[in-house]
Amino acid sequence: MRTVLLVGVGAGDPEHVTVQAIKALNRADVVFVAEKRAETDELVRLRHEILERYVEGSPRTVALPDPARDRSSPAYREAVEEWRAKRAEVWEKAIAGELRDDGCGAFLVWGDPAIYDSTLAVIDQVLARGNLEFAHEVIPGISSPQALAARQRIAFNRVGGAVQITTGRRLSAGWPEGADDVVVMLDSDCAFTRFAGDEVDIYWGAYLGTEDEILRSGRVGEVAEEIRKLRSEARERKGWVMDTYLLRRSPRS
Ligand SMILES: C[S@@+](CC[C@H](N)C(=O)[O-])C[C@H]1O[C@@H](n2cnc3c(N)ncnc32)[C@H](O)[C@@H]1O
Repeated sequence: MRTVLLVGVGAGDPEHVTVQAIKALNRADVVFVAEKRAETDELVRLRHEILERYVEGSPRTVALPDPARDRSSPAYREAVEEWRAKRAEVWEKAIAGELRDDGCGAFLVWGDPAIYDSTLAVIDQVLARGNLEFAHEVIPGISSPQALAARQRIAFNRVGGAVQITTGRRLSAGWPEGADDVVVMLDSDCAFTRFAGDEVDIYWGAYLGTEDEILRSGRVGEVAEEIRKLRSEARERKGWVMDTYLLRRSPRS
């Protein structure tokens, strides 16, 4: 039976790649690279660096083109579901066509496959279509929240407390119910600025694990403008930006 490995490769530092991930990559005959339209040359280069650094053989690399996604649709969830279904079709053909019956293929997943990544959901859809059988395994990677916590030297939870991971889109609708510690990803609009008047601290990191890494922390009201400026200058300079942050609200008395 064919095997498909979903390998988390960390959030930007090639040294995030675990021993388990290296062993998995070395089992693969084919590395599938799911291209993303918005992806920059730099992210593609990082992926190649990981392969060159750690893979001893020379697995074939197969690029999987990214189907178009309707970003204009107000029905975000439906648009994403439709895009995943189109990806499942492309991936099914590639797994069937590129792997021998007992072959092993690997998908490189940025960070960890369990956090805001669709690779696992698309693979589940390929299996649910019922046209192709294969075994699949997930190899965890260092996620951007973990990289942030380490670089900021913080723990996410306070004693016995809960932590919520959410998106900038959700945060811009208001502070999440029931949480005092909130990790925010996928925020293109600096949603933290709306809490500038509150007793909230931010621990922010951009390009974590790379040579361009930027870190800032402090009371949101004091550092929000600086972060916004740094973010937009970096984005201008490099053409892309990825940032993650923790918002920590003082406990209500
Ligand atoms: C599609 S999600 C992928 C998350 C990934 N699976 C993970 O485990 O980190 C992309 C988001 O992850 C965060 N991210 C990924 N890499 C990052 C990095 N090196 N520095 C800061 N944030 C990063 C950003 O919030 C970005 O918008």
